[in-house]
Amino acid sequence: MAKVNVKVCLGTTCFVMGSSNLQELLDLVQKKYGEDVSVSGSPCLGLCSIDWEFSKAPYVKVNDEIIKEATVEKVIAAIDRELK
Ligand code: FES
Repeated sequence: MAKVNVKVCLGTTCFVMGSSNLQELLDLVQKKYGEDVSVSGSPCLGLCSIDWEFSKAPYVKVNDEIIKEATVEKVIAAIDRELK
């Protein structure tokens, strides 16, 4: 099975907008998916500057899919879609 890569943006905008709350993903994903999914932090993904006027931070990338206003629930749902 292909591995799913999750990148949590830890750039300033995303961090202030709540990506710090996504730290619990690390534990959760490890327990739920083990080796199939890797979660890492990332410097600014460059999305906040494109979208700054209607910022939908925090952003998370699940493989190539961009999750806006990311929450733990949204990220888990995206991972499940990728693993299908
Ligand atoms: S700080 Fe997250 S996309 Fe820029």
